[in-house]
Amino acid sequence: MSDLEQKVMTALSTVIEPELHRDIITLKMVRDLTVEGGVARFTIVLTTPACPLKDVFVSSCNRAVIGRVEGIDRLEIKWDAQVPTDRRIMGRLDVPMRSIVAVASGKGGVGKSTVATNLAVVLADSGARVGLIDADILNPNLPMMLGLGHGRPRVEGDKMLPIEAYGVKMISTGFLTDPDKPMIMRGPMLHGAIRQFFVDVKWGELDYMIVDLPPGTGDAPLSLAQSFPLTGVVVVTQPQEVAVSDALRSAAMFDTLNVPVLGIVENMSGDFFGSGGGERLAQERNVPFLGRIPLDAEVRKGGDFGRPISVSQPDSPAGAAFRELAKTVAARVSVVMLQTADVIPLTVIQ
Ligand SMILES: Nc1ncnc2c1ncn2[C@@H]1O[C@H](COP(=O)(O)OP(=O)(O)OP(=O)(O)O)[C@@H](O)[C@H]1O
Ligand SMILES: [Mg+2]
Repeated sequence: MSDLEQKVMTALSTVIEPELHRDIITLKMVRDLTVEGGVARFTIVLTTPACPLKDVFVSSCNRAVIGRVEGIDRLEIKWDAQVPTDRRIMGRLDVPMRSIVAVASGKGGVGKSTVATNLAVVLADSGARVGLIDADILNPNLPMMLGLGHGRPRVEGDKMLPIEAYGVKMISTGFLTDPDKPMIMRGPMLHGAIRQFFVDVKWGELDYMIVDLPPGTGDAPLSLAQSFPLTGVVVVTQPQEVAVSDALRSAAMFDTLNVPVLGIVENMSGDFFGSGGGERLAQERNVPFLGRIPLDAEVRKGGDFGRPISVSQPDSPAGAAFRELAKTVAARVSVVMLQTADVIPLTVIQ
């Protein structure tokens, strides 16, 4: 590395990653730095392709270098992303999943499946490799929400192949059973079904595995959290008090199970159910408030017709709110992972 390149590196080591609170050189986020004719070129490797902070990095790198390092007039920044790998997943599961994010709620019908679906499609749209498990085994809704109502997974060897929509790989009992007949299962069978979705499906390498849970603090969330190392859980609530108090119980259960609560989402916010309940809950539990999704008939239609609003109407208030939410969740996943000792940091990922 030349003298000048070294000086640029030193200047960049004053740039702090705002979420992770460490400088971008220590975090090994700067790669392939070269200097030529007054232009410093380098790549910033983000911890998620859905990073909300690109503009912040551009301005803080410019501030750190331009006018401070003699001989450099301009920066040319390229972007790359590598989601950190939760090493506990690799220890327990023979599948290359970098992170597992569950979506839970206390009360039913608050919008978990809607949130899980939109989260998954936005992350995939940003370039991440995303899987989605419908862990609501008895009442699977995700096939409809992704427009895959009549899907039947193919089998390859002894594994099922997930079905893909909007760039998301998905599996659901809705693909495997007669939609008009109720599924009758006891706790242990439910547990077996969720486990099979992790191990008997050929996922390929994934950055994010999103798991849509049934409501409440019952068997499914409990056995999921005990069987698989969850990177974190997103708790969805409606604004009104009955939903908030149920969400509180859900968050407390994940705390007890040592699953990090990534934060609280307030869904169906607006005149009808009010607003502010999610934020209050987040404050009370001392966890981040991840965002507010407005109550909007277009969200429901998107679910019914298999066209998630975040892709069909990305600029509508609800579509934009889901897009923001996905970025916030991805950033929280990075923070939580880099706080966990068992994470393989950026340095060793190829
Ligand atoms: N922000 C919103 N605005 C309007 N309708 C919404 C919104 N979010 C979800 N819905 C609708 O509310 C209904 C319930 O949502 P969803 O199925 O996602 O909830 P859930 O928490 O997964 O329910 P369950 O507990 O039964 O699994 C669906 O018809 C969905 O389309
Ligand atoms: Mg649901």
